[in-house]
Amino acid sequence: MYNSKIIGLGKYLPEHVVTNDDLSKMMDTNDAWIQERTGIKERRWIKEGTDDTSAIMGAKASKMAIERSGLTNDDIDFIVFATMTPDYYFPGCGVQIQEMLGLKNVGAIDIRNQCSGFVYAISVADQFIKTGMYKNILVVGSEYHSNGLDKTTRGRGVTVIFGDGAGACVLSREEDTTKGILSTHLHSEGKYADKLIVESPSIKHWVPQILESEEEDLSYFPYMDGTFVFKHAVVRFSEVIMEGLQKNGLQKEDIDMLIPHQANLRIAQFIQKKFALTDDQVFNNIQKYGNTTAASVIIALTEAWEEGKIKAGDNVVLAAFGSGFTWASAIIKW
Ligand code: UT7
Repeated sequence: MYNSKIIGLGKYLPEHVVTNDDLSKMMDTNDAWIQERTGIKERRWIKEGTDDTSAIMGAKASKMAIERSGLTNDDIDFIVFATMTPDYYFPGCGVQIQEMLGLKNVGAIDIRNQCSGFVYAISVADQFIKTGMYKNILVVGSEYHSNGLDKTTRGRGVTVIFGDGAGACVLSREEDTTKGILSTHLHSEGKYADKLIVESPSIKHWVPQILESEEEDLSYFPYMDGTFVFKHAVVRFSEVIMEGLQKNGLQKEDIDMLIPHQANLRIAQFIQKKFALTDDQVFNNIQKYGNTTAASVIIALTEAWEEGKIKAGDNVVLAAFGSGFTWASAIIKW
Protein backbone atom coordinates (compact mmCIF):
# COMPACT_ATOMS: atom_id res chain seq x y z
CA MET A 1 0.00 0.00 0.00
CA TYR A 2 1.07 3.54 -0.76
CA ASN A 3 0.02 6.94 0.53
CA SER A 4 -0.86 9.86 -1.69
CA LYS A 5 0.38 13.42 -1.37
CA ILE A 6 -0.50 16.73 -2.94
CA ILE A 7 2.32 17.86 -5.24
CA GLY A 8 0.65 20.75 -7.09
CA LEU A 9 -2.14 23.21 -6.28
CA GLY A 10 -4.04 25.61 -8.54
CA LYS A 11 -7.07 27.90 -8.53
CA TYR A 12 -9.08 30.09 -10.84
CA LEU A 13 -11.54 32.78 -9.83
CA PRO A 14 -13.52 34.76 -12.41
CA GLU A 15 -12.47 38.41 -12.46
CA HIS A 16 -15.94 39.88 -11.95
CA VAL A 17 -16.35 40.94 -8.30
CA VAL A 18 -19.91 41.26 -6.92
CA THR A 19 -20.06 43.18 -3.65
CA ASN A 20 -22.84 43.07 -1.08
CA ASP A 21 -23.80 46.57 -2.21
CA ASP A 22 -24.13 45.26 -5.78
CA LEU A 23 -26.57 42.61 -4.48
CA SER A 24 -28.60 45.21 -2.63
CA LYS A 25 -29.37 46.77 -6.02
CA MET A 26 -30.92 43.47 -7.17
CA MET A 27 -32.83 42.48 -4.02
CA ASP A 28 -33.81 43.64 -0.55
CA THR A 29 -30.58 42.92 1.30
CA ASN A 30 -27.70 44.92 2.70
CA ASP A 31 -24.00 44.73 3.43
CA ALA A 32 -24.49 44.75 7.22
CA TRP A 33 -26.88 41.75 7.20
CA ILE A 34 -24.68 39.69 4.89
CA GLN A 35 -21.46 40.43 6.75
CA GLU A 36 -22.97 39.87 10.17
CA ARG A 37 -24.71 36.56 9.29
CA THR A 38 -22.12 35.07 6.90
CA GLY A 39 -18.86 37.05 6.99
CA ILE A 40 -19.04 37.49 3.19
CA LYS A 41 -17.94 40.87 1.78
CA GLU A 42 -17.87 39.98 -1.90
CA ARG A 43 -17.92 37.01 -4.25
CA ARG A 44 -16.92 36.32 -7.85
CA TRP A 45 -19.68 35.72 -10.40
CA ILE A 46 -18.93 34.82 -14.00
CA LYS A 47 -19.79 37.86 -16.09
CA GLU A 48 -22.47 37.30 -18.69
CA GLY A 49 -20.96 37.02 -22.12
CA THR A 50 -17.68 35.47 -20.94
CA ASP A 51 -16.80 31.87 -21.71
CA ASP A 52 -16.21 30.49 -18.22
CA THR A 53 -18.15 27.43 -17.07
CA SER A 54 -17.47 24.84 -14.37
CA ALA A 55 -15.42 22.75 -16.81
CA ILE A 56 -13.50 25.72 -18.25
CA MET A 57 -12.68 27.17 -14.83
CA GLY A 58 -11.71 23.67 -13.69
CA ALA A 59 -9.37 23.35 -16.66
CA LYS A 60 -7.70 26.68 -15.83
CA ALA A 61 -7.15 25.68 -12.19
CA SER A 62 -5.90 22.25 -13.32
CA LYS A 63 -3.37 23.75 -15.71
CA MET A 64 -1.88 25.72 -12.81
CA ALA A 65 -1.86 22.67 -10.53
CA ILE A 66 -0.13 20.48 -13.14
CA GLU A 67 2.46 23.18 -13.90
CA ARG A 68 3.21 23.64 -10.20
CA SER A 69 3.49 19.87 -9.69
CA GLY A 70 6.40 19.70 -12.12
CA LEU A 71 4.62 16.94 -14.05
CA THR A 72 3.39 17.10 -17.61
CA ASN A 73 -0.12 16.37 -18.87
CA ASP A 74 1.08 12.97 -20.03
CA ASP A 75 1.86 11.98 -16.44
CA ILE A 76 -1.80 12.27 -15.34
CA ASP A 77 -3.36 8.82 -14.95
CA PHE A 78 -6.91 9.70 -13.88
CA ILE A 79 -9.30 12.64 -13.36
CA VAL A 80 -11.73 13.15 -10.48
CA PHE A 81 -14.01 16.18 -10.87
CA ALA A 82 -16.29 17.43 -8.09
CA THR A 83 -19.13 19.77 -8.96
CA MET A 84 -22.83 20.30 -8.33
CA THR A 85 -23.08 22.72 -11.26
CA PRO A 86 -21.89 20.69 -14.25
CA ASP A 87 -21.90 22.17 -17.77
CA TYR A 88 -24.25 19.41 -18.93
CA TYR A 89 -26.78 17.09 -17.32
CA PHE A 90 -24.53 14.50 -18.92
CA PRO A 91 -21.69 13.86 -19.66
CA GLY A 92 -19.82 15.09 -16.60
CA CYS A 93 -17.12 17.76 -16.42
CA GLY A 94 -14.34 15.19 -15.92
CA VAL A 95 -14.38 14.14 -19.56
CA GLN A 96 -14.41 17.79 -20.66
CA ILE A 97 -11.19 18.34 -18.70
CA GLN A 98 -9.59 15.40 -20.48
CA GLU A 99 -10.37 17.05 -23.80
CA MET A 100 -9.66 20.66 -22.81
CA LEU A 101 -6.23 19.86 -21.40
CA GLY A 102 -5.42 17.33 -24.10
CA LEU A 103 -4.76 14.60 -21.55
CA LYS A 104 -4.27 11.00 -22.65
CA ASN A 105 -7.48 8.91 -22.80
CA VAL A 106 -7.38 8.36 -19.05
CA GLY A 107 -10.46 7.60 -16.97
CA ALA A 108 -12.55 10.47 -15.62
CA ILE A 109 -15.27 10.46 -12.99
CA ASP A 110 -17.53 13.13 -11.56
CA ILE A 111 -18.35 13.40 -7.86
CA ARG A 112 -21.79 14.71 -6.85
CA ASN A 113 -21.38 15.62 -3.20
CA GLN A 114 -21.96 19.36 -3.19
CA CYS A 115 -20.10 21.19 -0.38
CA SER A 116 -18.36 17.95 0.65
CA GLY A 117 -17.48 17.28 -2.99
CA PHE A 118 -13.80 18.08 -2.89
CA VAL A 119 -13.08 16.08 0.26
CA TYR A 120 -14.99 13.14 -1.22
CA ALA A 121 -13.04 13.58 -4.48
CA ILE A 122 -9.67 13.56 -2.79
CA SER A 123 -10.70 10.48 -0.82
CA VAL A 124 -11.68 8.65 -4.02
CA ALA A 125 -8.39 9.61 -5.68
CA ASP A 126 -6.47 8.54 -2.57
CA GLN A 127 -7.93 5.02 -2.75
CA PHE A 128 -6.75 4.57 -6.36
CA ILE A 129 -3.26 5.67 -5.40
CA LYS A 130 -3.15 3.58 -2.19
CA THR A 131 -3.86 0.39 -4.11
CA GLY A 132 -1.19 1.20 -6.71
CA MET A 133 -3.67 1.41 -9.58
CA TYR A 134 -2.75 5.00 -10.48
CA LYS A 135 0.28 7.16 -9.70
CA ASN A 136 -0.80 10.74 -10.47
CA ILE A 137 -4.41 11.92 -10.27
CA LEU A 138 -5.86 15.31 -11.12
CA VAL A 139 -8.54 16.26 -8.56
CA VAL A 140 -10.74 19.25 -9.41
CA GLY A 141 -13.50 21.19 -7.64
CA SER A 142 -15.35 23.80 -9.68
CA GLU A 143 -18.67 25.60 -9.46
CA TYR A 144 -20.67 28.01 -11.59
CA HIS A 145 -23.53 28.98 -9.29
CA SER A 146 -24.36 32.48 -10.41
CA ASN A 147 -26.38 31.57 -13.48
CA GLY A 148 -28.72 29.34 -11.45
CA LEU A 149 -29.57 31.62 -8.53
CA ASP A 150 -32.80 33.51 -7.85
CA LYS A 151 -31.52 37.11 -7.95
CA THR A 152 -34.68 38.61 -6.49
CA THR A 153 -35.65 39.26 -2.86
CA ARG A 154 -37.39 35.88 -2.89
CA GLY A 155 -34.00 34.13 -3.18
CA ARG A 156 -31.97 36.35 -0.87
CA GLY A 157 -31.55 33.73 1.89
CA VAL A 158 -29.54 31.56 -0.52
CA THR A 159 -28.28 33.77 -3.34
CA VAL A 160 -26.09 36.11 -1.29
CA ILE A 161 -24.02 33.16 -0.08
CA PHE A 162 -22.87 31.51 -3.30
CA GLY A 163 -19.92 32.34 -5.53
CA ASP A 164 -18.19 30.91 -8.61
CA GLY A 165 -14.66 29.53 -8.80
CA ALA A 166 -12.41 26.51 -9.17
CA GLY A 167 -9.46 24.77 -7.56
CA ALA A 168 -7.42 21.72 -8.45
CA CYS A 169 -4.58 19.58 -7.19
CA VAL A 170 -2.35 16.81 -8.39
CA LEU A 171 -2.29 13.88 -6.00
CA SER A 172 0.72 11.62 -6.40
CA ARG A 173 2.10 8.37 -5.02
CA GLU A 174 4.06 8.69 -1.75
CA GLU A 175 6.09 5.67 -0.69
CA ASP A 176 6.49 6.87 2.92
CA THR A 177 3.17 5.97 4.57
CA THR A 178 3.73 8.41 7.45
CA LYS A 179 3.36 11.29 4.96
CA GLY A 180 0.61 12.67 2.73
CA ILE A 181 -3.05 11.81 3.19
CA LEU A 182 -3.21 9.80 6.41
CA SER A 183 -6.94 9.12 6.41
CA THR A 184 -10.26 10.30 5.01
CA HIS A 185 -13.70 10.03 6.62
CA LEU A 186 -16.96 10.18 4.64
CA HIS A 187 -20.56 10.31 5.87
CA SER A 188 -24.09 10.89 4.64
CA GLU A 189 -27.64 11.22 5.97
CA GLY A 190 -30.08 11.25 3.07
CA LYS A 191 -33.16 11.85 5.17
CA TYR A 192 -32.30 15.54 5.06
CA ALA A 193 -31.88 15.71 1.27
CA ASP A 194 -34.76 18.19 1.00
CA LYS A 195 -33.19 20.67 3.44
CA LEU A 196 -30.71 21.89 0.83
CA ILE A 197 -31.73 20.97 -2.67
CA VAL A 198 -32.18 21.91 -6.30
CA GLU A 199 -35.15 19.71 -7.18
CA SER A 200 -35.53 20.29 -10.89
CA PRO A 201 -35.07 19.70 -13.67
CA SER A 202 -34.95 16.07 -12.62
CA ILE A 203 -35.96 13.11 -14.68
CA LYS A 204 -39.22 12.88 -12.70
CA HIS A 205 -39.89 16.60 -13.12
CA TRP A 206 -38.46 17.57 -16.48
CA VAL A 207 -38.48 20.92 -18.32
CA PRO A 208 -41.94 20.60 -19.99
CA GLN A 209 -43.54 19.88 -16.61
CA ILE A 210 -41.88 22.96 -15.10
CA LEU A 211 -43.08 25.10 -18.01
CA GLU A 212 -46.59 23.64 -17.92
CA SER A 213 -47.02 24.20 -14.20
CA GLU A 214 -50.12 26.30 -13.52
CA GLU A 215 -48.52 28.02 -10.55
CA GLU A 216 -45.04 29.46 -10.89
CA ASP A 217 -42.71 26.48 -10.42
CA LEU A 218 -39.46 27.59 -8.78
CA SER A 219 -38.06 24.14 -8.08
CA TYR A 220 -35.09 24.86 -10.35
CA PHE A 221 -33.73 27.39 -7.83
CA PRO A 222 -31.74 26.15 -4.84
CA TYR A 223 -33.77 25.78 -1.65
CA MET A 224 -32.11 25.83 1.77
CA ASP A 225 -33.50 25.65 5.29
CA GLY A 226 -30.56 27.75 6.47
CA THR A 227 -31.04 27.51 10.22
CA PHE A 228 -31.55 23.74 10.09
CA VAL A 229 -28.46 23.28 7.91
CA PHE A 230 -26.43 25.55 10.19
CA LYS A 231 -27.31 23.55 13.31
CA HIS A 232 -26.35 20.24 11.70
CA ALA A 233 -23.19 21.70 10.16
CA VAL A 234 -21.61 22.72 13.45
CA VAL A 235 -22.23 19.27 14.97
CA ARG A 236 -21.07 17.24 11.97
CA PHE A 237 -17.98 19.40 11.32
CA SER A 238 -16.85 18.83 14.90
CA GLU A 239 -17.56 15.09 14.80
CA VAL A 240 -15.76 14.41 11.55
CA ILE A 241 -12.69 16.42 12.57
CA MET A 242 -12.55 14.53 15.90
CA GLU A 243 -12.95 11.22 14.05
CA GLY A 244 -9.94 12.05 11.87
CA LEU A 245 -7.79 13.15 14.80
CA GLN A 246 -8.63 10.03 16.83
CA LYS A 247 -7.91 7.72 13.91
CA ASN A 248 -4.39 9.14 13.76
CA GLY A 249 -3.74 9.46 17.50
CA LEU A 250 -3.71 13.26 17.24
CA GLN A 251 -5.00 15.87 19.69
CA LYS A 252 -6.78 19.14 18.91
CA GLU A 253 -3.56 21.06 19.60
CA ASP A 254 -1.73 19.00 16.95
CA ILE A 255 -3.72 20.73 14.17
CA ASP A 256 -1.37 23.12 12.34
CA MET A 257 -3.93 24.19 9.75
CA LEU A 258 -7.66 23.57 9.53
CA ILE A 259 -9.24 24.28 6.15
CA PRO A 260 -12.99 24.20 6.71
CA HIS A 261 -15.43 24.29 3.81
CA GLN A 262 -16.30 27.97 3.43
CA ALA A 263 -20.03 27.77 4.14
CA ASN A 264 -20.40 30.58 6.63
CA LEU A 265 -17.72 32.40 8.67
CA ARG A 266 -19.85 31.89 11.78
CA ILE A 267 -19.64 28.11 11.34
CA ALA A 268 -15.84 28.25 10.94
CA GLN A 269 -15.54 30.51 14.00
CA PHE A 270 -17.70 28.14 16.05
CA ILE A 271 -15.41 25.22 15.12
CA GLN A 272 -12.30 27.29 15.79
CA LYS A 273 -13.56 28.07 19.29
CA LYS A 274 -14.63 24.50 19.98
CA PHE A 275 -11.18 23.18 19.03
CA ALA A 276 -9.43 26.10 20.78
CA LEU A 277 -7.52 27.02 17.61
CA THR A 278 -5.78 30.36 17.01
CA ASP A 279 -6.41 32.50 13.92
CA ASP A 280 -3.15 31.09 12.47
CA GLN A 281 -4.50 27.55 12.70
CA VAL A 282 -7.65 28.13 10.64
CA PHE A 283 -7.83 29.46 7.08
CA ASN A 284 -10.84 31.39 5.81
CA ASN A 285 -11.38 33.24 2.55
CA ILE A 286 -15.20 33.25 2.43
CA GLN A 287 -14.96 37.03 2.87
CA LYS A 288 -13.66 37.31 -0.73
CA TYR A 289 -15.34 34.42 -2.51
CA GLY A 290 -18.53 33.41 -0.69
CA ASN A 291 -19.45 29.73 -0.65
CA THR A 292 -18.10 28.00 -3.76
CA THR A 293 -19.30 24.54 -2.57
CA ALA A 294 -17.08 21.81 -4.09
CA ALA A 295 -14.43 24.39 -4.98
CA SER A 296 -14.18 26.05 -1.58
CA VAL A 297 -11.83 23.67 0.26
CA ILE A 298 -9.37 23.40 -2.62
CA ILE A 299 -9.35 27.15 -3.31
CA ALA A 300 -8.74 27.78 0.40
CA LEU A 301 -6.02 25.10 0.58
CA THR A 302 -4.32 26.61 -2.48
CA GLU A 303 -4.39 30.11 -1.00
CA ALA A 304 -3.16 28.96 2.43
CA TRP A 305 -0.24 27.26 0.68
CA GLU A 306 0.43 30.29 -1.58
CA GLU A 307 0.56 32.50 1.51
CA GLY A 308 3.18 30.24 3.11
CA LYS A 309 0.82 29.14 5.88
CA ILE A 310 1.43 25.42 5.31
CA LYS A 311 4.91 23.93 5.83
CA ALA A 312 6.40 20.48 5.40
CA GLY A 313 5.49 18.28 8.36
CA ASP A 314 2.32 20.23 9.25
CA ASN A 315 -0.86 18.41 10.22
CA VAL A 316 -3.45 19.81 7.81
CA VAL A 317 -7.13 19.01 8.32
CA LEU A 318 -9.76 19.43 5.59
CA ALA A 319 -13.41 19.30 6.66
CA ALA A 320 -16.72 19.87 4.93
CA PHE A 321 -20.46 19.61 5.39
CA GLY A 322 -23.28 20.19 2.94
CA SER A 323 -26.30 19.11 0.96
CA GLY A 324 -27.21 15.44 1.20
CA PHE A 325 -26.52 15.79 4.02
CA THR A 326 -22.93 14.75 3.47
CA TRP A 327 -19.88 15.51 5.56
CA ALA A 328 -16.23 14.51 5.35
CA SER A 329 -12.70 15.14 6.57
CA ALA A 330 -9.15 14.41 5.47
CA ILE A 331 -6.08 14.36 7.71
CA ILE A 332 -2.88 15.22 5.87
CA LYS A 333 0.77 15.18 6.98
CA TRP A 334 2.13 17.84 4.61
O1 UT7 B 1 -22.50 25.13 2.27
C1 UT7 B 1 -23.47 24.18 2.51
C2 UT7 B 1 -24.02 24.31 3.83
N1 UT7 B 1 -24.68 25.58 4.01
C3 UT7 B 1 -24.60 26.17 5.16
O2 UT7 B 1 -23.89 25.70 6.02
C4 UT7 B 1 -25.42 27.40 5.38
C5 UT7 B 1 -25.98 27.34 6.77
N2 UT7 B 1 -26.89 28.44 7.09
C6 UT7 B 1 -26.51 29.71 7.13
O3 UT7 B 1 -25.38 30.05 6.82
C7 UT7 B 1 -27.51 30.72 7.65
O4 UT7 B 1 -28.66 30.04 8.12
C8 UT7 B 1 -27.92 31.80 6.62
C9 UT7 B 1 -26.75 32.75 6.38
C10 UT7 B 1 -28.32 31.15 5.32
C11 UT7 B 1 -29.08 32.62 7.13
O5 UT7 B 1 -28.75 33.20 8.37
P1 UT7 B 1 -29.74 33.09 9.62
O6 UT7 B 1 -29.10 33.81 10.71
O7 UT7 B 1 -30.05 31.63 9.83
O8 UT7 B 1 -30.99 33.90 9.10
P2 UT7 B 1 -32.52 33.42 8.89
O9 UT7 B 1 -32.61 32.55 7.69
O10 UT7 B 1 -33.04 32.91 10.20
O11 UT7 B 1 -33.23 34.79 8.56
C12 UT7 B 1 -33.32 35.86 9.52
C13 UT7 B 1 -34.03 37.02 8.88
C14 UT7 B 1 -35.36 36.64 8.21
O12 UT7 B 1 -36.25 37.69 8.39
P3 UT7 B 1 -37.37 37.65 9.56
O13 UT7 B 1 -38.20 36.44 9.24
O14 UT7 B 1 -36.62 37.52 10.84
O15 UT7 B 1 -38.08 38.94 9.39
C15 UT7 B 1 -35.00 36.56 6.75
O16 UT7 B 1 -36.09 36.81 5.90
O17 UT7 B 1 -33.21 37.58 7.84
C16 UT7 B 1 -33.97 37.65 6.62
N3 UT7 B 1 -33.03 37.46 5.51
C17 UT7 B 1 -32.34 38.46 4.95
N4 UT7 B 1 -32.29 39.77 5.20
C18 UT7 B 1 -31.44 40.52 4.45
C19 UT7 B 1 -32.72 36.29 4.90
N5 UT7 B 1 -31.81 36.52 3.94
C20 UT7 B 1 -31.56 37.86 3.96
C21 UT7 B 1 -30.70 38.70 3.21
N6 UT7 B 1 -30.69 40.01 3.49
N7 UT7 B 1 -29.90 38.22 2.25
